[in-house]
Amino acid sequence: MPPLSPDVYEGLRASIAVSGVVLPIIVWPHRGVRYIVDGSHRKGIATELGYECPEVLRSDLTEEEARVMARALNMARRQLTTIQKRQIIADQLRETPEKSARWVGKMLGVDDKTVGSVRSELASGAEFPHLATIRGQDGKCYPAPSPSSRSAVGNHERYTPSWLVDAVRRVFGRIDLDPASSSKANRTVKATTFFTKRTDGLKRLWHGRVFLNPPFDDWPAWAGRLDREIESRRVTQAVVVGPANISAFRPLLKRGGVLLVPDERPKYYDPDSNRLVDPPFGSLIGYLGQHQDRFIAVFGTRGVILRQIVP
Ligand SMILES: C[S@@+](CC[C@H](N)C(=O)[O-])C[C@H]1O[C@@H](n2cnc3c(N)ncnc32)[C@H](O)[C@@H]1O
Repeated sequence: MPPLSPDVYEGLRASIAVSGVVLPIIVWPHRGVRYIVDGSHRKGIATELGYECPEVLRSDLTEEEARVMARALNMARRQLTTIQKRQIIADQLRETPEKSARWVGKMLGVDDKTVGSVRSELASGAEFPHLATIRGQDGKCYPAPSPSSRSAVGNHERYTPSWLVDAVRRVFGRIDLDPASSSKANRTVKATTFFTKRTDGLKRLWHGRVFLNPPFDDWPAWAGRLDREIESRRVTQAVVVGPANISAFRPLLKRGGVLLVPDERPKYYDPDSNRLVDPPFGSLIGYLGQHQDRFIAVFGTRGVILRQIVP
């Protein structure tokens, strides 16, 4: 589960210091280990203060039930950001990809549309299984949503807003190449060189300071290509917009890059309506290159910056 923010943690600590632990923690004993399903912060604070910590033992739970309970209680009680909630839903979907959105929604107490949109987002990454059928709570199997019904994940014409491109320029100085673009998008991106569907950025050599916001439904191809271009050292710095799935950025993080998890889901420009629109999926922004300090200074106020600490 995501950690508590410092002010929420301090509030909880102050309340326990005055009243003790009022709400019992839930413990799942399994093969001699006591797992805290709910209340690890309460337990930690009580131990630190030398207080009693009431608990409820739930030896009746299966491992899966214990995990679902932990997620559902966190979703219900804690003040989580949209991105944190979607990450918890994503964890559940990775664990039970065969369960329908409605079922997962009921398990976690969230609406099934949100679960469906997280599923679409995961399906755009490489590691989520593409199942032919999913199972409803009634035990029946239904056809899985087809890639073509993946709502706006399949709409490639969503352009980067000018605030984000301006921020990239503050990190780079200049954008040398946008490998996945269109002439309309490049009016904002202003890359010296850009490739389009017709000139096919996946078949060209990339170079210099690259800004990449590719079609998410073909993410593995674009991420793999970026990794090879970095390996070749033709690409010197990269800012990459990708799906809100941290594992999609694993190669970049393994190479020592950093990742912005935005507090607010970025909106993208819809050239048909000439407006910024809220896509049904979130995005993360990665950076690789020698100017991490600049990236952090420019983007760090917009969310949480992640870096892999274990190689
Ligand atoms: C999400 S949009 C981003 C556009 C632009 N890079 C930006 O940030 O505003 C992805 C763009 O990639 C283009 N595209 C799709 N396939 C492509 C390919 N094989 N080569 C180059 N561009 C492609 C789409 O037409 C679309 O304009």
